[in-house]
Amino acid sequence: PLSFVHRYEPAAQAGAPPLLMLHGTGGDENDLLGLGRMISSGSALISPRGKVLEGGMPRFFRRLSEGVFDEDDVRARAAELAAFVTEAREAYGLAAPVAVGFSNGANIAAATLLLQPGVLAGAVLLRAMVPLADPPPAELGGVPVLLLSGAMDPIVPVSNAERLAGQLRAAGASLDHQVLPAGHGLSQADVNLARQWIAGPA
Ligand code: MLT
Repeated sequence: PLSFVHRYEPAAQAGAPPLLMLHGTGGDENDLLGLGRMISSGSALISPRGKVLEGGMPRFFRRLSEGVFDEDDVRARAAELAAFVTEAREAYGLAAPVAVGFSNGANIAAATLLLQPGVLAGAVLLRAMVPLADPPPAELGGVPVLLLSGAMDPIVPVSNAERLAGQLRAAGASLDHQVLPAGHGLSQADVNLARQWIAGPA
């Protein structure tokens, strides 16, 4: 068995990018399969369950409090997720995936981009925030990233999302950051923008 509990849905269309679906706190491997199908119906979906439990709720790394992260754990868990991506690619014969993460899942995707360049072919970061105050220099070589933030998000201030955008740009990502009239939850606009972006990344 692979190193994460996960769901896998094979591709329905050759050439559609595999999507690595990363759930938010309290979600699981089933949560985002519907979102994945909505944004790219032909893609293979690989959806792991976060291994960290917070009061019984799965997550992808430890936090000390809301928005205050255990950065050593972020680094260790990003390496662990990168290893899982390699395993899953071998097991299922997949190209490098595009991560689609929500909230805590978006944060581990951002950390994986910054710490493990080459693992992800791109990322859709839904309500992500800065996972590492001072990430090491990375060379992302134009990896496409769509960052969608909520103007009224009580968990992620827009200034924090802008700081993440700056970190990703500095690392060489090709970043599209949009601030939507939304809170922390996803809106129809997120789904539409993610679908359009996956269909024809910048
Ligand atoms: C996190 O812990 O990654 C962020 O606070 C988002 C969340 O999971 O609520």
